Amino acid sequence: MTVPFFLHFYPWTKALHVIALIAWMAGLLYLPRLFVYHCEVLPGSEASELFKVMERKLYKFIMTPAMIATFLFGIVLALTPGLVDWHAGWFYVKLGAVILLAGAQGAMSRWRKDFLADANRHNQRFFRIMNEVPTVLMLVAVVMVVVKPF
Ligand code: HEM
Repeated sequence: MTVPFFLHFYPWTKALHVIALIAWMAGLLYLPRLFVYHCEVLPGSEASELFKVMERKLYKFIMTPAMIATFLFGIVLALTPGLVDWHAGWFYVKLGAVILLAGAQGAMSRWRKDFLADANRHNQRFFRIMNEVPTVLMLVAVVMVVVKPF
């Protein structure tokens, strides 16, 4: 289930995977922080409208393309001969963390749309907690792929 041709590009694929995931994680860590600040201002205020623009740009121009690139290069790496032992557990745990990260992005997309419609239903505490979720998932993903503990 591997593509020998991908071996020629391995260092580049890995570099592009890491660059893409840095950009994606930056967005996943910063967007909930913007939501925390957005909670502090009145709906319809100038500040609220500015947050809406910042949230839209971060989501559409950084997070979405970066997530797609992370997945594309990750899939190419997974199909490069000799990198994944399909009988070892680490890859599946990493994949689980990655799927949950994509789920976190989906949830953030929904909260962003709520703010856009001046219909946010959550408080600052909620977004502070949600801010920690991508951090924990990233720790799991990175330890799995670097340490490969099982
Ligand atoms: C569809 C999603 C993904 C797939 C299929 C995937 C798969 C892979 C594979 C097969 C490797 C090569 C491992 C090796 O060279 O031994 C790799 C490297 C790496 N991945 Fe992913 N990955 C994905 C998403 C992510 C995410 C979301 C993160 C972090 C939050 C991440 C972090 C890393 C890191 C840090 C490396 C470099 C490890 C090293 O230096 O050896 N990956 N990935």
